Amino acid sequence: MNRTTLVSPSILAADFANIETEVKMVNDSAADYIHIDIMDGHFVPNISFGFPVTKAIQKHSKKPLDFHLMISNPDNYLEACIDSGAAIITVHVEVCHDLRATINRIKKFGAKAGVAVNPGTDIESLKEIISDIDLVLLMSVNPGFGGQSFIDNTYNKVLEIKELSSFLNKNILIEIDGGVNASNAAKLISTGANMLVAGSYVFNAPNPIEVIQSLKML
Ligand code: DX5
Ligand code: ZN
Repeated sequence: MNRTTLVSPSILAADFANIETEVKMVNDSAADYIHIDIMDGHFVPNISFGFPVTKAIQKHSKKPLDFHLMISNPDNYLEACIDSGAAIITVHVEVCHDLRATINRIKKFGAKAGVAVNPGTDIESLKEIISDIDLVLLMSVNPGFGGQSFIDNTYNKVLEIKELSSFLNKNILIEIDGGVNASNAAKLISTGANMLVAGSYVFNAPNPIEVIQSLKML
């Protein structure tokens, strides 16, 4: 097997009273990134954490940071993400008025640019932009909360992205976010995904390092 599965544990499921220990656990694991969910209580019905917290994560992390902005005005916060060490910044297609301008700004800052799509959003909405981005983040739950159940239609959407990207952007990363666990991870990878976010599956496990390793092996 010459394919590599990228793994991005979602810090949203970590114990925030022990954030240093949690980040160090990820440092010691086979994870490729730390996934950072920013929620604004407007685009999604929940608030996660802000930049003082991401700075604390950055301080301890040896892994690159994968920012997922579930916020209505991502343009206003790109610089703050970069200041917190973002290696990837993903914005939602549903909120960007000028998606191309936002993507270009992210790239100018030197980060990889991603576009996220909600379960109810058509993959067609990515057609114009897919050749200019590094990553598509496919939401496999409705965004806003960790610990939700995986939506099965995600497999069909992976196939749609595969088809679109096969002639427009072969090297694109297809990141799956929400409800990823042992019952769907292998099928996601065999369908064509190459990057998995996992929050509760990793951080609620008795041995998170082993869980991360098992996802890496897919
Ligand atoms: C959901 C977030 C996810 C979440 C994943 O809105 O974007 O990244 O943290 O958590 P689990 O893996 O528990 O569904
Ligand atoms: Zn996320």
